Amino acid sequence: MSISKFDTSEEFAYTLDSKDSLARFRNRFYTPKHGIYVDGNSLGLLSNDSENSVLRILGEWKTLGIRGWLEAKHPWFYLAEELGAKCARLVGAKPQEVVATGTTTVNIHSLVNTFYNPKVEKKTILADKLTFPTDIYALRSIVRLRGLDPDDDLVLISGTDGRFLEEEKIIDQVDNTTALAFLPSVLYRSGQLLNIKYLTEQAHAKGIPIGFDCSHSAGVVPHQLDKWDVDFAVWCSYKYLNGGPGSTAFLYVNEEHFDREPALAGWFGYVKDRQFDLAVEFDHAKSAGGWQISSPAILSSAPLQGSLDIILEAGIESIRQKSLRITAYLMYLVDELLSKKPYDFSVGTPREAERRGGHVAVEHKEAMRISEALRARGVICDFRPPNIIRIAPAPLYNTFHEVWQLVQHLKDIIQDREYERIGEQRKPIS
Ligand SMILES: Cc1ncc(COP(=O)(O)O)c(C=O)c1O
Repeated sequence: MSISKFDTSEEFAYTLDSKDSLARFRNRFYTPKHGIYVDGNSLGLLSNDSENSVLRILGEWKTLGIRGWLEAKHPWFYLAEELGAKCARLVGAKPQEVVATGTTTVNIHSLVNTFYNPKVEKKTILADKLTFPTDIYALRSIVRLRGLDPDDDLVLISGTDGRFLEEEKIIDQVDNTTALAFLPSVLYRSGQLLNIKYLTEQAHAKGIPIGFDCSHSAGVVPHQLDKWDVDFAVWCSYKYLNGGPGSTAFLYVNEEHFDREPALAGWFGYVKDRQFDLAVEFDHAKSAGGWQISSPAILSSAPLQGSLDIILEAGIESIRQKSLRITAYLMYLVDELLSKKPYDFSVGTPREAERRGGHVAVEHKEAMRISEALRARGVICDFRPPNIIRIAPAPLYNTFHEVWQLVQHLKDIIQDREYERIGEQRKPIS
């Protein structure tokens, strides 16, 4: 796309769409007929391709029964590795370093426990307070299970004004007591993208392994996990990877660690071609597949066949370019049209492209009620306390014109004081 400056007119939004090289992917998704869906950072939309892969696998179950494990078009026995190899291309990893398995939180338990070897003096885990809470819950329980005290042995770095983390300050916290670091790639509230390359280099220079939760970057930001020499990573597949609610997650283990003993062993981590010898001694596959635990959730993995193909077809670099462009456009419109009285919105996401993930945090003191008012108008985004409306224009299915319309909705909601008619009670999911 060659347009370098924005303007606030509707015509300009259409011009941006006319120059969008990814526009052709939109009609492969089930976008709402009326309304705007900008919640792909929570749950990506269903595509025709995913629907077809699910229906194909259901059909195979219908006709093949147990034979599907080896005789399905993509044999279920190898599906986790096959999907891992596809996803590896999105994150700069070798095919055998990624596997589709489990759920993000279980994978955190599995990999952090594998890499966490606390010693008498060197026993703390370094993480941050701004990460998604499940990571903190998991880390606390991991520390506790080793007989240590999470209040002392889990070191949580606070961010700047609850929004951002400074990489240098994180590294300053690594000392002789630190055994491991585990951090998010993108902060789920502000959308800040951390410098994974720098953090990994510095952690290694100080002699500790480092892992990342890439749930908010996989599928929208390119990664170079091998080149950066990251030790391990996890990510979910229901956000920008469009795998559907509760779809199977992914994990990455750098090949230099394939010999490590998986902390949470299970029979699907066994050396593949000898798994059905059903030996009593555990011998794990020397690949990310060695960190599988149970029978793969084939029905929760099925949508990923279609959805990963679309992403690979579009190209992760092109996806990133559009994501940066469309989020920059959104921030521009908020600044130009919504930052003054009576609107009082502000942007709580870093402006620099290299520090931004796939969503924009639009802040307002009435964010909760405004996001409900948006939903009532058919604009689906989400609210994160205390004051954030998260807006994620997904490069594969959102348009610049939708972003323009969304901003008009925000204007109207404030002008008409529409949010005041919404109760203060927060819904269980918002
Ligand atoms: C960064 C991050 N990690 C983990 C999770 C949740 O993981 P799980 O797949 O275990 O529900 C989320 C959910 O939104 C998340 O944002």
